[in-house]
Amino acid sequence: MGDLMRRYWFPIAAYGEILARESGTLPVRHLGEEFVLFREPSGKLGLLGRFCTHRGMDLVRGFVEDGGIRCVIDGWKFTPEGRCVDRPMENDEGLPSHEYDTNGHPVQEFGGLVWAYIGPEPVPLLPHWRPLVGTNDVRDIGITDVPCNWLQLMENSMDPVHVEWLHGYYGSQIKDDRFVPRRHERIGFDVFKHGVIKRRLLEGQTEDDDEWKTGHPVLFPNTLYIGDQIKEGLQIRVPVDDTHTRHYWYSIFKPAPGATAPKQDVVPYRYVPLHDEDGKFITGYTTSQDFICAILQGPIADRTLENLGESDRGIIMFRRLLKEQMAIADDGGDPMNVIRDAIENESLDVSVETVFWGEWDRILRSPFSEPGESPGIAEIRTVLETWRGSSSEG
Ligand code: FES
Ligand SMILES: [Fe+2]
Repeated sequence: MGDLMRRYWFPIAAYGEILARESGTLPVRHLGEEFVLFREPSGKLGLLGRFCTHRGMDLVRGFVEDGGIRCVIDGWKFTPEGRCVDRPMENDEGLPSHEYDTNGHPVQEFGGLVWAYIGPEPVPLLPHWRPLVGTNDVRDIGITDVPCNWLQLMENSMDPVHVEWLHGYYGSQIKDDRFVPRRHERIGFDVFKHGVIKRRLLEGQTEDDDEWKTGHPVLFPNTLYIGDQIKEGLQIRVPVDDTHTRHYWYSIFKPAPGATAPKQDVVPYRYVPLHDEDGKFITGYTTSQDFICAILQGPIADRTLENLGESDRGIIMFRRLLKEQMAIADDGGDPMNVIRDAIENESLDVSVETVFWGEWDRILRSPFSEPGESPGIAEIRTVLETWRGSSSEG
């Protein structure tokens, strides 16, 4: 699995996180490895193995300067590519030997996130999912470190029925609102070019309803995409290691046709808590409920104890897809969503649903499915207000 996951670009930080660091450095644990992310005064980003090749000092303490980062102990300097270019006390003739180099990895800012690729060459393109390439919207990044394996969060996304029980019955018990969720009559899954479309048909719905007709795409291997004409959201699950996941909510709020969104210099970010002040799980939000069910399966759920059934058809399909793509990667091929075509990558399309009547008001009242308030809430409300009175408002 690790070889497959190393074939992808992943977000490793919000760009605002590295901007906020006076040191210009940020420790990053990603796919079980330790790195230092740094930002040179010129703005160039670098991602290196975290420890100096001299005597193992932590480069998070390093001096960042144009051209790279210098270790604080004896001043060895490394470029963003990992080349050791200076060892002040040694008598190198010209550049030091390559034996002092460290691992350097492609890293870039895109859409307010810092994305990194730590896999084999040739480096693929950083996928430009359509929601990320918009120019007229406001955005928000929420981050939660979740103490369990990333696949548990993905498998929750592949189980449509949890919406009825976890968010429906359990959610209404928490809110004590006696809400009775509609029963799932049918669930369906289709593999498409970029992942899996999951569909549900609830009691009283027909195949013309968006939840069946359009469905929700899961972008292989680690992203749930939920979108409509007002708000789009990517839930990106990044494996920190086998038992920890960094979960990003990437939310995009679009103005009504003809309106212009306020400018954001940097996409705001925030840390979304798992627990309240008493250390208890937060339970009142749908994504908090999703986290609880993934975390309480244990750090790595024991699949040998499962009894899968009809509600697990999506999970079974996703596991099969993972195995197929692992085999493709093992054979030296490009697995799904390793993108190399620059024209195609200008905007990778995913279909979106249409917000149904009255939804605008609900989004305005409660723009997020996760706890906490965005630092960009004023801009978000400005954008949402542009829908007031439009035909989509209903
Ligand atoms: S440990 Fe880094 S320069 Fe000596
Ligand atoms: Fe959910």
